[in-house]
Amino acid sequence: MHEAAETPAWAALAYLISGSLFILALRGLSSPESSRRGNRLGMAGMAIAVVTTLVTHLPFQAGGPFDGAAAGSNIDWVTLGLILAAIAIGAAIGLLTARRIAMTAMPQLVAAFHSLVGLAAVLVAAAAYLNPEAFGIATRITPIASPSFFSIDPVSRVEMGLGMAIGAITFSGSVIAFLKLNGNMSGAPIMLPGRHIINLGIIAAILGLIGYFLTDQSPWVFWTVTALSFLIGFLLIIPIGGADMPVVVSMLNSYSGWAAAAMGFTLGNSAMIITGALVGSSGAILSYIMCRAMNRSFISVIAGGFGGDAAIAGGGGAIDRPYKRGSAEDAAFLMKQAEQVIIVPGYGMAVAQAQHALREMGDLLEAEGVSVKYAIHPVAGRMPGHMNVLLAEASVDYDKVFELEDINSEFARSDVAFVIGANDVTNPSAKTDKTSPIYGMPVLDVEKAKTVLFVKRSMGGVGYAGVDNELFYRDNTMMLLADAKKVVEEIVKNMGH
Ligand code: TAP
Repeated sequence: MHEAAETPAWAALAYLISGSLFILALRGLSSPESSRRGNRLGMAGMAIAVVTTLVTHLPFQAGGPFDGAAAGSNIDWVTLGLILAAIAIGAAIGLLTARRIAMTAMPQLVAAFHSLVGLAAVLVAAAAYLNPEAFGIATRITPIASPSFFSIDPVSRVEMGLGMAIGAITFSGSVIAFLKLNGNMSGAPIMLPGRHIINLGIIAAILGLIGYFLTDQSPWVFWTVTALSFLIGFLLIIPIGGADMPVVVSMLNSYSGWAAAAMGFTLGNSAMIITGALVGSSGAILSYIMCRAMNRSFISVIAGGFGGDAAIAGGGGAIDRPYKRGSAEDAAFLMKQAEQVIIVPGYGMAVAQAQHALREMGDLLEAEGVSVKYAIHPVAGRMPGHMNVLLAEASVDYDKVFELEDINSEFARSDVAFVIGANDVTNPSAKTDKTSPIYGMPVLDVEKAKTVLFVKRSMGGVGYAGVDNELFYRDNTMMLLADAKKVVEEIVKNMGH
């Protein structure tokens, strides 16, 4: 009998409540103001789901409560203890990691966590395959208790095959994404000859074998699907360059959701189906939004190869071209005279952790009667919402923070654009140079401000896409070459005078 039929009404209701809490959590996470509440709602939803699953699946010793013994009289405390210990160890690792992780390392942490979701789907699928009776997805065909003597329901075979395949792809793909983002593996795309044909062949083989699994539940079919899926995960992600990695991470996030949803069907667990679908669809939407922000098509991201030439071009550039260099004193003077200053934060602000000093600078300027606004590019930094999180941490008012499309027309009316650790997101080559790797990406029109102040450490340092930025050499640009936090602290000091 399928386990879903056994879910008691109260448990179905509890799963529905936890699913609703997850939806509210996603809603809360859509703005920094409500994100804490969103997180709490998500945690409450997860607590309800875990407790409900534990209570409805309490492990019993042989005989079990359904064999006439009084419920609760013969709980298998050892198994329950093991489950609770696993939860405690996992929670401790999660807590420690969350406290220790640097904001700049968040993308690789997310990739690492996705790999665990993928692995969990693989393990659940393997457990369901090896012990189908315990999962309520098989019919006993002989009285002998051995996996091969159970016929697994055809629908469950497809769900299990898909869950296993997507889970394995998510696992191996996320491991590669982690290694690339963490710098353990070159971020440059690694191109294998004939990779598209090989990849398509492997995907066709996986789908074909899942179809064949319907007629033959032999171990070789199941384990071949598993091995091929692990392999295709590696092969799909290896050719993708670092600049496209955020899209890949979000895409893998989406895959991990679909893997969980597929396994939710196998387990007859509605909370897992709802959660998987939420993660799957939100990851897909986020990938789409990021592709649009970088002006890349989803297909070209998956096809890989982006970022190779750029990485080679990077570091070179016209380092010898003349440019204007300014001091913190010049910057303080210019900004105090301004009517409006737009601050454009980027990855360098995150590295330097300059957000608190930056807020102080903004406060001082406002005290001088200057209007201060913050312009956030959708892919500034290294992860979605990176800049918003840091500015929120420094208590910058949300109503001073604007998205690209809402602020771009304001640069022309501003006296100063203060670009701090941002580079690619301001690069005009995205608008004009068809050979640029970032061509077509919408960028912030900082050059339209009367003066552009660029904070970075050196003229040679390039941004993520590895390309030089022509703005550094323009007449209305002044370079402030030092660590972002130090520069801002100096400016704050100079504003006092
Ligand atoms: P980038 O173009 O990466 O530029 C960062 C700049 O910060 C560099 O010019 C660097 O120059 C400077 N910098 C680094 N450390 C600094 C420090 N301590 N003090 C001062 N400056 C420092 O940053 P961006 O404009 O934010 O653009 C983001 C890029 O990352 C885009 O290409 C985007 O596609 C990509 N990306 C985005 C995401 C998401 S989802 N946000 C994820 C991954 C990749 P120096 O070395 O000379 O200091």
